[in-house]
Amino acid sequence: MTQTGADLDYLDRVQNGQLDLGWLRECKSEWGIRATPSRIGLTLRDIAIGSYGHIADSPTLRTMAPRGSDVEEGVPDMGYTINQKAEVWSDNVMELYEEAVSRQWSATRDIPWRDLTELPPDLEHAMCQLATVLSEVEMVASDFPAKWLWRINHEFVEAKMFLCTQVMAEARHTEVFRKRALANGGGLGRARAVVEQFLKLILDAENYDEGSALMHLLGEGIVLSLFRAGELLAPSPVEKRIFRLCMQDEARHVAYGTMHLRYRLERDPSLAEDFHAYFDKGEELLSVLFSTPEVIEPMMVLASGGVKQAEELGLGAADILRGRVIEEYLQRCAHAGLDRRGRLQVPEPLLRGLEDITSLPTPESPTSGSLEGEFESVVPAPQGANHGA
Ligand SMILES: [Fe+2]
Ligand SMILES: [Fe+2]
Repeated sequence: MTQTGADLDYLDRVQNGQLDLGWLRECKSEWGIRATPSRIGLTLRDIAIGSYGHIADSPTLRTMAPRGSDVEEGVPDMGYTINQKAEVWSDNVMELYEEAVSRQWSATRDIPWRDLTELPPDLEHAMCQLATVLSEVEMVASDFPAKWLWRINHEFVEAKMFLCTQVMAEARHTEVFRKRALANGGGLGRARAVVEQFLKLILDAENYDEGSALMHLLGEGIVLSLFRAGELLAPSPVEKRIFRLCMQDEARHVAYGTMHLRYRLERDPSLAEDFHAYFDKGEELLSVLFSTPEVIEPMMVLASGGVKQAEELGLGAADILRGRVIEEYLQRCAHAGLDRRGRLQVPEPLLRGLEDITSLPTPESPTSGSLEGEFESVVPAPQGANHGA
């Protein structure tokens, strides 16, 4: 045996025709399991069958051995720190992975960049400032899952695979907004310290619970609401296409975050107070977002068609957007089983224009008009329709 465990005598034995065949004769994993492809192909759900579909809540091993394989004794401990299924799982994670893979798109090829036309300078600046902010915040949603991925037990491999798709999706979002800033003569705008401070809050989160709540549900939920607004206020079909494609990706990340929190709280309702504390801190983002000119004014200018019009309309467009962002956030919390209506850490001026929050959905009746389908819109696109806009 070598230091790493390689059995060099085996080479001699094979030379003499003595195959080991232990892997063939002593196989203990389940035999005779045959997965049937569903309509769109062979999905993760299709192969979650027999013992292979059983995912332990608290796996005893911390190994990269595939779940369900015959694992040799003495496998090394990989040092995973997330070893409880409820810490990362969501009931929709397999479907979200399939959808992510089937809806990959290219910021190089799938955006009609050559159709960009010259915009009035204020509108171009506004679009570029918005693209700067988005290019800045998108990358934290790659960095966060990347920071935690290697700590997640391989038993929950589907959740790890989904987070890998998120890393790629957010790289693409960073790319597409950076490209938009540079594609039409405006260039990059300002990056603000207050925005960076919130990004740091996510990266510095002491555990996955906190970071995922702040990012998947709160932060990305806000970004999803902004993308929805962006599609409406896009100055040309080029930006419309950008927002629409990003929105597809973002909806998956928010669907994971919301359904993961629900899964977590259903299994341990005593964690609700911890999550309330994370959101008490994180909701400051809402104040930051709506009091930072570099974030809010470009949208006002784009929505109203120019600086002068934005000055005349005042905060009208921003009021509508703010109300929408906060309402959708509260609805997602309710869907996850957390009632934030009475604890929302938002100063009074930010609630102006928002409908009575006591009338918003509760965890007991979480359905809502505007988000209906957001958590269920996870059916993989048919094969070949990978850019399903
Ligand atoms: Fe994103
Ligand atoms: Fe995202």
